[in-house]
Amino acid sequence: MGINLKKIRADFPILKKKLIYFDNACMTLRPKQVVEATNEYYYEFPGCAGRSMHKIAAKVTEEVLKSRKIVQKFISAKKPEEIIFTRNTTEAINLIANSFKFKKGSKVLISDKEHNSNLIPWQVLEKKGVIKLVIVNSKSDNTLDMDDFEKKIKGVTLVSIVHTSNMDGVTNPVKEIIKLAHKNNSLVMLDAAQSIPHKEVNVKKLDVDFLAFSGHKMLGPSGMGVLYGKKSLLEKLDTFMVGGETVIDSNYHNHKLEKLPERFEAGLQNYAGIIGLAEAIKYLKKVGMKNIETQELILNKALTEGLSQIEGVKILGPLDPKQRAGIVSFNYKNVDPHQIALLMDNSANIMMRSGAHCVHSWFNAHKSKGSARASFYFYNTLEEVDAFINAFKKIVKFFK
Ligand code: ALA
Repeated sequence: MGINLKKIRADFPILKKKLIYFDNACMTLRPKQVVEATNEYYYEFPGCAGRSMHKIAAKVTEEVLKSRKIVQKFISAKKPEEIIFTRNTTEAINLIANSFKFKKGSKVLISDKEHNSNLIPWQVLEKKGVIKLVIVNSKSDNTLDMDDFEKKIKGVTLVSIVHTSNMDGVTNPVKEIIKLAHKNNSLVMLDAAQSIPHKEVNVKKLDVDFLAFSGHKMLGPSGMGVLYGKKSLLEKLDTFMVGGETVIDSNYHNHKLEKLPERFEAGLQNYAGIIGLAEAIKYLKKVGMKNIETQELILNKALTEGLSQIEGVKILGPLDPKQRAGIVSFNYKNVDPHQIALLMDNSANIMMRSGAHCVHSWFNAHKSKGSARASFYFYNTLEEVDAFINAFKKIVKFFK
């Protein structure tokens, strides 16, 4: 069953405007169903969960549990308490970095293509002398060098690695990575911010230990993210942010921690965000993750083909669109990528991202300022890709 683009696009009111939105790797658009679900919370039951005894509070508690179960099923986690609500992927990774009981000098392994969210928390720990950061190289086509991974995995406590890169769309062979890591007694955390919105991810099948993702990259509200962890591992973590909701009881000098997941969800939560995220997942399931993948590949093929015909364009990563999910990151000669993005916006109302995409480390190592990046979601169309290619061809003439 394919995608009914006309019906889908009608759910995104902003698409009625004359604009082309190709900045989905940063943040997707939201369908009216998600906006309405968050509004319903604010209009109908704007209370707090897990505390007060009244009817409105009971409704919020019930909705939060329902949402947690929807997230649990979406990633095939075993138990709802393995789902911790956070603000975003960044907070989820910080939670692990700050609560994992590392022995002094433990090794944490990352790739050379991590987003700052999966780099800076580890750098801070390294600077404090808690861990030693090990970095695995990519090959010249930007895919991970698995030989280098095999060499460096020995003695590593935690692998924290990107699933699909927001920079070039390359998906790491995480099944193999997890198998190899477990064989070496290392745990694995996946930064799945760029994979979960675009393909089926099954934490049980992957046997991944921790996984982080954000709602705003998958039709959900901003400021809403998730940390998944195997229950037995989450139970062993230290605390991160603490305060209201994280404890059962306290006196002036002591406290008793709550069970999972509450012990990691300090303070009043983003209830509208939690409910909106569940609605986003319902929407994605209705569209079908396979259909989403297929549509993005159709778009990626078309844009790759169109750009490849323009002399001076260099696509980051493998040329084969199948290896770059819904992302086309490119440079044109020595033109500043920000200039390309601004001209595309000003001349044709096409929204894309430019610069280092929060992967400064990789661009610095490659002596590059960044790239221009078009990133798709299932509501984008081939007509939009054609318009992009035509607009870009006009821009290119300026630089000849
Ligand atoms: N916000 C980052 C991006 O645009 C993750 O890729």
